[in-house]
Amino acid sequence: MKFRSRLVVNLSNLAHNYNEIKKLAPSSEVLFMVKADGYGHGMISVARYAQTELGVRNFGCATISEALKLREELNDLEFDIYVFSDIQLELLENADIYLKRRIIPVISNVSELDYILHTPEFKYFPICLKFNTGMNRLGLDPNDAPLILSRLKQHGRNSIHHLIQHYANASYGMDTDEKNILQRKRFEELKNYFRENGITLERTSQSNSGAIEQKTGLMETHIRPGLMMYGPTSLSDEFKDKGFFKGKLVSKLETYILRTFEVKKGDTVGYNSTPCPSDGIIAVLAIGYGDGFFNRYSGAHLNHKGFEGKIIGRVSMDMTHVFFPVEAKNHIKAHEVFTIWGENEGDLLRFSEETKTIPYELFCSLLPRIPRVYRLN
Ligand SMILES: Cc1ncc(COP(=O)(O)O)c(C=O)c1O
Repeated sequence: MKFRSRLVVNLSNLAHNYNEIKKLAPSSEVLFMVKADGYGHGMISVARYAQTELGVRNFGCATISEALKLREELNDLEFDIYVFSDIQLELLENADIYLKRRIIPVISNVSELDYILHTPEFKYFPICLKFNTGMNRLGLDPNDAPLILSRLKQHGRNSIHHLIQHYANASYGMDTDEKNILQRKRFEELKNYFRENGITLERTSQSNSGAIEQKTGLMETHIRPGLMMYGPTSLSDEFKDKGFFKGKLVSKLETYILRTFEVKKGDTVGYNSTPCPSDGIIAVLAIGYGDGFFNRYSGAHLNHKGFEGKIIGRVSMDMTHVFFPVEAKNHIKAHEVFTIWGENEGDLLRFSEETKTIPYELFCSLLPRIPRVYRLN
């Protein structure tokens, strides 16, 4: 087999993005978010490269099973792992994993904190607290700070290993959006409160990509980039000019043309017989919803060799039809590689806009049938 749909992951671009982030935030350490299989890029390969070649020493997962996989597959490397959402601390088996595999659960409610404080095996375990300063998803209530302080003191704990908050509106203006201003203020108040009451904050972090792009929260010990490490901006259109980051897209989604055929206006294509709007040429791509390329992408534009095509009709499990104008006839051929998105061809942001998705979602949707292939420049 000569070609196959695949995600080409350019690790040199990951290095570029990391270096750009370090230019913005020279004194903060990077806690690289590699959850959801490294945002679809392949968690293990991406994390191995980041640790060995870029010196990243902290990784963020969403679930304990992701964290365990990372620890087991990279057991020759040293790094910290945080589990941010599905920590499942109440299961005895998991307590063992946290303790023995040096995985840090991010605590976001008082009962989880109580569990850590009351379980003798966790007596010296690092405490990582995430506060809900306005995201209203997970997180400790800032109003519970006095209660949390007294619990820590009762148990002889005088330090918090990592104090965290997460922005709800980081893709909007950090200096203009009211929620961002409020969240920043609440986090400052929390830091001051714990410090004034004798608690050492060993590590603090407040910013994910949108905030980092706007140079917010860079005085904390850590920053937590996810999307920007993989290249795209996470700033909304109207705030793009506020960003200081020029990322390079790490991934290129390639497929190839299985077949081309000419059509006349009204000829039908594929399931449910969608009629062609005019005379033209159809390129049948070797990608479909069995690869994580969905039926709702129908109607989006894709370019090939300078011609603008449009996904026509129903996307099948293994194939997608792209309709091109008749002028493309002698140019678009079977067996050619067809790039859906990439650094130089294929506009990811346009595709995400037209499909009413976000780059996060496009990356994470790709299914295992798409091999991840790693390249250096
Ligand atoms: C707590 C936390 N920090 C950081 C990130 C990274 O966010 P982004 O990909 O927008 O940089 C996430 C991702 O959702 C997160 O949940």
